Amino acid sequence: MLIITNSKTYSPIGVFDSGYGGLTILKELVDTLPQYDYLYLGDNARAPYGSRSFDTVYEYTLQSVKALFDQGCELVILACNTASAKALRTIQQKDLPIIAPNKRVLGVIRPTTEIVGNYTKTNEVGIFATSGTVTSQSYVMEIEKFFPDIKVFQEACPMWVPLIENNELNGVGANYFVEKHVQHLFSQSKNIDTVILGCTHYPLLKPLIEKHLPKGVQILTQGHIVAEGLKDYLVRHPEMEVRITKNNQREFLTTDSTEIFDKHASLFFGQEVKSKHLGL
Ligand code: DGL
Repeated sequence: MLIITNSKTYSPIGVFDSGYGGLTILKELVDTLPQYDYLYLGDNARAPYGSRSFDTVYEYTLQSVKALFDQGCELVILACNTASAKALRTIQQKDLPIIAPNKRVLGVIRPTTEIVGNYTKTNEVGIFATSGTVTSQSYVMEIEKFFPDIKVFQEACPMWVPLIENNELNGVGANYFVEKHVQHLFSQSKNIDTVILGCTHYPLLKPLIEKHLPKGVQILTQGHIVAEGLKDYLVRHPEMEVRITKNNQREFLTTDSTEIFDKHASLFFGQEVKSKHLGL
């Protein structure tokens, strides 16, 4: 466990993403539950994860979770759909009982799929996500568990993360690729009335997605949903809640250049960020 300068125990909530996208989740966590300490880790040196194999995403995610445990985290949120889809279940079932039986790792897919039935009236839901998340079928399987009557339509959008990471949100390229994938999704069904942005990067494209969506279709972004899910989890798990330190501290780690991270991170987090480097 890492000890901070005032010699108090430091046990923040770990928030992990392949890069910057998880900062859109962290922003909502901090707004909803400001009292806790948070430690963010972006594996920018190895991002994007979206097109990588199951084994690679699992290996990178497990390394990152272990690194956050080493920094004192008792609870880690995988604020990345791709990691939640490809690595979470194995980490929870196979690794945690061996490496840290009292620590917990949670993802972003379950809280989203648990509530989607409260939004759709047509029982037809669309998912925009990375190729990895779409191939994993995680959204389809999780929604089926909670709402067996809902039909799920998926669209992989492999160009959206690179457009966002390269600050091309307002260019003609972004407009082209957003329109293309929205059209592909709705060519599968005209009755979809709710779409989930199933990648933590995508909230930055929300205005453009909205522009191309058919009228009346609602967009669900995950930040608020995950924050409410965590709030509920901590009420149901007081034994975990007491272990998290509460000094309103936010710290940021990146596996790549801190200068580049700090320059881009504020776009996702909405505030200045000062990161430290962590080698994995
Ligand atoms: N932020 C990740 C997610 O939610 C995707 C980014 C990547 O491809 O690494 O799926």
